[in-house]
Amino acid sequence: TKPKEPELPLFFGWFLLPEEQERVKCATMDFLKTLDTLEAFKGHISEFTGEADKEVDLEQYFQNPVHLHCTTKFCNYGKAEGAKEYAELQVVKDSLTKSDELSVTALIVTPRVFGARVALTETQLKLWPEGEDKVGVTPALLPSVEALPVGSRAHVTLGCAAGVEAVQTGLDLLEILALQKEGKEGTQVEMELGTLTYLSEGRWFLALREPITADTTFSSFSD
Ligand code: A2P
Repeated sequence: TKPKEPELPLFFGWFLLPEEQERVKCATMDFLKTLDTLEAFKGHISEFTGEADKEVDLEQYFQNPVHLHCTTKFCNYGKAEGAKEYAELQVVKDSLTKSDELSVTALIVTPRVFGARVALTETQLKLWPEGEDKVGVTPALLPSVEALPVGSRAHVTLGCAAGVEAVQTGLDLLEILALQKEGKEGTQVEMELGTLTYLSEGRWFLALREPITADTTFSSFSD
């Protein structure tokens, strides 16, 4: 009989260590608490509530994911394209269970998701699958996404609005980066954490003055 093929996971990624998760959650929640009190944000509140003058508590609006991580490859137990090839890469095998430090350089808030942009190092980019930035991107946005540096989609999902799936964070991040590149930035607000920019349709981008770093372990995950 043939030996059974090793099973492929749901996804691979960098997982924040438990104490790091708490620290990152606290820091990013503080930002959410401040954001929904800003006049600039209130001026666009209907993009979140569907009605002007209605209040929103962003801490309640976004549901927390179970464990914070930065997905490198979504394998869907082998159903995703390139899953097997990725799992077999030497760099992937060599990196499993290894520690690594991630650097968060920006936060995004949209009516769908709350996320953290991760700036990957040269070494970390070796674990970033080729062509992964554009998976699931709408055709209209593809040319702008292809013009962004590789790994631009790297992120940690910090929360999703009701009924929204985590995969949306990467897509919203790419859209924001594409709009920024086209110079389509609106209102800017200086905050303690950094510069907050509005990018139309309820999209907000906070460029952090100081990156938030977090210790992680590279690993696979199956439900
Ligand atoms: P993300 O990496 O943006 O947080 P789920 O729980 O929905 O099955 O997803 C498990 C993880 O895999 C999540 O972290 C999620 O998003 C990511 N993910 C889900 N679907 C995709 C996809 N089609 N492409 C890339 N990543 C995905």
